[in-house]
Amino acid sequence: MNGSLLETIRPEGMTRRQFIKSVIATGVVSSSGLLYSGPAGAAPKTSPGAVERLITLNVNGQQRRVDVMPQETLAQTLRGKLGLTGLKIGCDRGECGACTVLIGNVPQYSCSILTQSVRGKNVLTIEGLARSDGKLHPLQQGVLDEQGFQCGYCAPGFLMSTLGYLKTNPNPTRQELAHGVSGNLCRCQDYDKILTALMRGAEYMRKG
Ligand code: FES
Repeated sequence: MNGSLLETIRPEGMTRRQFIKSVIATGVVSSSGLLYSGPAGAAPKTSPGAVERLITLNVNGQQRRVDVMPQETLAQTLRGKLGLTGLKIGCDRGECGACTVLIGNVPQYSCSILTQSVRGKNVLTIEGLARSDGKLHPLQQGVLDEQGFQCGYCAPGFLMSTLGYLKTNPNPTRQELAHGVSGNLCRCQDYDKILTALMRGAEYMRKG
């Protein structure tokens, strides 16, 4: 972040040092909606006359109240306002699958859905997979055991797509699962290891 941009968004009364600390501590600034940067958390563009509206979302089993703009995408809301940064934004135009979440058990690109359209529906992000005691979801454990990703940026999207697919086909062949997650791209091109890891996770899920 360059100095001039930082200066323009630093709240009045906050020292530069305090502001930088709040940024690197994560959540403090981003959850307030003050700071969004680049495609990984781009803010909804404000249109003249558009106003935010307070709505309630069901995310990871919790009711979350949040102000959203009419044109705000679910990815923007989840990452920028609810602090669910496990969800990644890659292309931000419905092509890569990095932003995949489950909406009512169906994998969807959250960068291509308006937040206001998911009111009353159950939204599940990668943060909602592990149990409250910290035990990993079987799919996550499979990825861990097989070390199936290189940079890992695409991993949350792959996991959510896999989870959605397994709800329709709990015991897929490798080829079927490959087809099931074909809407997700890996920029490291590590598909073979990813599939091995996801198949391992599917096996763990079947064993409970
Ligand atoms: Fe949503 Fe690429 S970021 S599909």
